[in-house]
Amino acid sequence: MATADHPIGIFDSGLGGLTVLRAVHERLPGEDLIYFGDTARVPYGTKGELTVRNFASQDAGLLVGLGVKMVIVACNTASAFALDHLRETLPVPVIGVIEPGVEEALRRTRGGPVGVIGTSGTIRSDRYQQGLREGRAGFGGIADERILVRECPLFVPLVEEGMMGTEITRLVLGEYLEPLRNARADTLILGCTHYPLLKEEIAAYMGPQTELVDSAATLAEAAEQILVAADLLRTESEREGLLDFHLSDIPWKFAEIGARFLGRPIADAKIVGLDEMEQAGRTVAKGTS
Ligand code: DGL
Repeated sequence: MATADHPIGIFDSGLGGLTVLRAVHERLPGEDLIYFGDTARVPYGTKGELTVRNFASQDAGLLVGLGVKMVIVACNTASAFALDHLRETLPVPVIGVIEPGVEEALRRTRGGPVGVIGTSGTIRSDRYQQGLREGRAGFGGIADERILVRECPLFVPLVEEGMMGTEITRLVLGEYLEPLRNARADTLILGCTHYPLLKEEIAAYMGPQTELVDSAATLAEAAEQILVAADLLRTESEREGLLDFHLSDIPWKFAEIGARFLGRPIADAKIVGLDEMEQAGRTVAKGTS
């Protein structure tokens, strides 16, 4: 049985979800956080629904096996394809990035078009679009004509290569975002773990008429509300929460990329083998059968 003293689990397809871990740590500094990045199988954004759901079950299963009190799905693609399934199968509360992002966009839009950018999987899943159409948390839904989406697959490798602020990124940005700028989107959801690192460039390109929604910050707020409601928030925070990192591979540029997303170096990361991942997926599935 999970208690407030247990850690929060956060997973992503790779290191991009460290932007979410960073936001959660800033908002809830007393909470212990366990991060799992599936660096051996990243990217998820180009993969099909069943594969992503299967990987996400294993990722979340691993965290549950480590005793977390809540699972945060930091990856937009995994949130799009696996959130419902994880909510049905996991014994702890599960939160993804899409619902908080939708809510924040509905709060901020001023009646104009709302843009959503993400990986191919996230955009094709239609999850953000559904959320915007249906409305959330007292905010009414918006008409389909007001929802403009763009797949931006090249942003992921550009950020991983540290090419922010370069000419090539400016060109790609213009290629992807021109239709959204021409349509005068008043709000733009950054629907991918990597895009907060391009925030300034995207904001400069889109101009002051467009408000950007960074799902990492909105998710951290939503996670806090869920913990409070479930009586699982750690209230005694006299020490800074511990950060514990688990990865399925150590990529060549791990230190550089990790620090870029986290905003500081990662002290130490444990390796989890893929056989262990598969076992974690089976264990969590068995627990619910
Ligand atoms: N974490 C993924 C997301 O937010 C981006 C990287 C990938 O494609 O796996 O959708």
